[in-house]
Amino acid sequence: MTAIVGSSPALLQCLHRVDAVAPTDATVLILGESGVGKELIARRLHERSRRSDGPLVIVNCAAIPRDLFESEFFGHVKGAFSGATRDRKGRLENAHRGTLFLDEVGEIPPELQGKLLRALQQMSFERVGDDEARQVDVRVIGATNRPLLDDVSLGRFRRDLYYRLSTFPIEIPPLRERPEDIAPLAAHLLAEIAAKLRRKAPRLSHGQIKRLKAYDWPGNVRELRNVLERTLILGHELDFPAGPTVTPGTAAASLPGQATASAHDGFMTAAEFLAFERNNLIAALEAASWKVAGSGGAAELLGMNSSTLASRLKALDIVRPAAGSLYLRIGGRSRIAAMSRDLLGRMQADPQVGRFWIDRSTAGIRQEERLLVAYLCSSLGGPTRYDGRDMIAAHAQLDIKEGDWSVFLHHLNQTFEALAIDTATRAELRVAVDSLKASIVTDKS
Ligand code: HEM
Repeated sequence: MTAIVGSSPALLQCLHRVDAVAPTDATVLILGESGVGKELIARRLHERSRRSDGPLVIVNCAAIPRDLFESEFFGHVKGAFSGATRDRKGRLENAHRGTLFLDEVGEIPPELQGKLLRALQQMSFERVGDDEARQVDVRVIGATNRPLLDDVSLGRFRRDLYYRLSTFPIEIPPLRERPEDIAPLAAHLLAEIAAKLRRKAPRLSHGQIKRLKAYDWPGNVRELRNVLERTLILGHELDFPAGPTVTPGTAAASLPGQATASAHDGFMTAAEFLAFERNNLIAALEAASWKVAGSGGAAELLGMNSSTLASRLKALDIVRPAAGSLYLRIGGRSRIAAMSRDLLGRMQADPQVGRFWIDRSTAGIRQEERLLVAYLCSSLGGPTRYDGRDMIAAHAQLDIKEGDWSVFLHHLNQTFEALAIDTATRAELRVAVDSLKASIVTDKS
């Protein structure tokens, strides 16, 4: 089995979190782009837990046909449906005294999410066609490469299940955010592939390593492995797209409310940390419809004392958005984040206005996305003030032309369509955006 290789601060910080939570029974949600190695992290969590002698049951939720979910998870008894010719245990029961790893949890069909939540809360369930409650002892690890919170705000994923699964989130950094790991990782993978092919592992030249490091690996470690495997089997030069790819919508990989790696490696600045805390509190407040204390309130969801929460809200200057504000009507922070990501992704992929982002790093794009979300949240009547740079000044030197603005409006409409924003809200948003045009478009030619 492939080991986790690398010594970058971003990876070490992630592994530190893994090792801290492994021995506990806490539910863990592993976040990361596809190909980063979420299953490896799940294995490590299992191996370093007191359940390591028990089973590790891996379920790829995207691979289970919708109508078989219930029986896959909970099992069935003979005769429960046509084709059920004998009793069968489900994955939950197979994972008894061990760990259940739910990969791509976002794919669990809505009609089953409630049932799964109940089973996880009570550690008890019934097989399909049976009414005997069965007890299990299972530790659950979920993984997703999608911004699950967006699915929550779109009503595709149950909020309560999301909070149940995300007790302890761990984000695995994409390969492009830890280029110093590429050389040792490539050497390790080459040795592994060569052993499989019963060949001697070749050494990579400086030039090859330089090329590997210059590429931005949208498919992460999996893509690196495939490239090396192809190279070794076919015996020719390294074979992958030259130069850093411009990946439209790379920013989509960042999760609203989650800490995203900043320009620094392995730590957040005090300001970033506060922004992270602020987003987390706002996400919980939104989940609790802005109720702070009491049953179902944000303090309870956060597992926090309500007076502590109240004082954090005061310190972070988080106020309840006005009833009827555009902010609330559009669906709160996560909807605004979804809208901003979609819009920025379209703008960056556009042949005309994409030029504004060409030399920008992914970290820079994520920063811009965060600021855009913060800006929109505050200007639409949200719970905080905008604390980014002067938005107008940021555009002044870009030399944005009248023609660029039409392209922007076109993409804005596409985003409205994509997120099914209603006509009245669209009109209000367009008025808000139009009022900025005169200061953003600096060249009227
Ligand atoms: C044609 C239209 C637009 C283009 C091409 C554009 C492009 C850009 C670019 C390239 C940046 C990065 C600037 C830098 O870091 O130096 C930026 C930043 C930003 N943009 Fe735009 N933008 C447009 C319209 C808008 C609109 C209408 C809004 C608000 C609703 C907006 C909000 C922001 C915000 C909040 C930032 C971050 C500013 C900061 O650093 O604090 N942009 N934009």
